[in-house]
Amino acid sequence: MDEKYILSITEQKAGRNGIFEALPFPFSTGEAAFPDRESAELHHGGHYAGAAAALNERLSCYPAYACCSLRALVMGADRMPAAIRRDVKNLAGSMICHGIWFAATAPGASPLRNPELMGELLRGYGSMEKFRLIFTRCAEELVGSGWVWLLRDRFGRLSIQPTHNNELPNLAVYTPILNLDCFEHAYYMRWKNRRDRYTAAWFRWME
Ligand SMILES: [Fe+2]
Repeated sequence: MDEKYILSITEQKAGRNGIFEALPFPFSTGEAAFPDRESAELHHGGHYAGAAAALNERLSCYPAYACCSLRALVMGADRMPAAIRRDVKNLAGSMICHGIWFAATAPGASPLRNPELMGELLRGYGSMEKFRLIFTRCAEELVGSGWVWLLRDRFGRLSIQPTHNNELPNLAVYTPILNLDCFEHAYYMRWKNRRDRYTAAWFRWME
């Protein structure tokens, strides 16, 4: 999965019917599959598709926003009617965050298997193990719910950054490469309260 595809997720628009939809996720099966089938179905069908349904419901009385991209909805939410601005920012943000996470986590799509990116990570962090340690520490230190991101700035420099809840990194400055969902709904079914074990399993799948 390349970085242009990630950008296209932030620019996702409603279909011709005016409805935003969760992007499909090619569920994998078998012991090694990540996430396991039950977690994946609940996460994709419940939380990600749920955010899309709730966003459509909030926007149903405001057809003027039907042509906006998810990114435009998040960026423009503060200028929307007070009745919907908080929900639109959260739900459109959730759709972008989840769209990127599912796209990067889909079977065979991991950006961490891209030789070019691996080379950049080795140069930037010294080793993949060091990169994994710093990323994992960022996930463990994130208080409450949120996301950990691998980002590229306009000069091509890589960085690891957390965001809280469904907030996005500054997309005017950074291009997301991948992210890790650190909401309990992403890991509680299988890993209970062990975000560290969930992060380790995600890395084994991604690498
Ligand atoms: Fe999630």
